[in-house]
Amino acid sequence: MDIKQAIKERHSVRQYSPDRISGDVRTALEGLIQECNKESGLHMQLVMDDPECFDTFLSHYGKFTGVNNYIAVVGSKKLSNLDEIAGYYGEKIVLEAQMLGLRTCWVAGTYGRGKCKAHIDAGEKIVCVISIGYGLTDGVNHKSKELSKLCGVSENDMPSWFKEGVEAALLAPTAVNQQKFFINIDGEDATIKAGFGPLTKLDLGIVRYNFEAASGHKCRRV
Ligand SMILES: Cc1cc2nc3c(=O)[nH]c(=O)nc-3n(C[C@H](O)[C@H](O)[C@H](O)COP(=O)(O)O)c2cc1C
Repeated sequence: MDIKQAIKERHSVRQYSPDRISGDVRTALEGLIQECNKESGLHMQLVMDDPECFDTFLSHYGKFTGVNNYIAVVGSKKLSNLDEIAGYYGEKIVLEAQMLGLRTCWVAGTYGRGKCKAHIDAGEKIVCVISIGYGLTDGVNHKSKELSKLCGVSENDMPSWFKEGVEAALLAPTAVNQQKFFINIDGEDATIKAGFGPLTKLDLGIVRYNFEAASGHKCRRV
């Protein structure tokens, strides 16, 4: 499976089977997390066998079951664009995980922040977690806003790379599916602007990764 297929097939999955992440899959996942930490300066961690973090009223209300593992997205408060970087590299891991047969869900609200077992060093904070494991379902397509609300270029005027990027951006997960971003073209690059509101910077990083991975072109925040 290539990355474009992974973008199409990835959906939030909140119900997991008890199968453990082990062997080559675990090695690949941990290697990727380390690589992303090195490149980004983040301190993301795979926490395994910890059902407590999703054993809260809100998690059950949010229909999470069987969550035994999660990636804690942790980083230094000194990083001025911490949320955006967290979104960008977290989504890279989410899509690689999809290709490894795993299912995921970005979670900023419905988990037990106080129960999270991640190591948070002085000066760091937890941005969010990503539940991860073998899914009992594959999830479903989310509803999407109209293209004209999210992009300044009409479909007929799009070069093919830009079209691929925008299609991938529309498939990206965003908090409560808010899709508060706007993408434009700028020569051989694209630009993206976040809307106002909570978690829009984190969303921006996620959407930016999807765009770049599918189009092979840079997408700059403006
Ligand atoms: C930054 C972020 C935070 C999220 N937080 C939660 C959450 O707390 N609880 C939850 O059930 N889903 C959460 N989600 C999942 C979104 O609801 C989901 O991505 C969105 O509805 C789109 O659906 P899809 O991921 O299946 O494409 C979050 C997603 C993102 C990107």
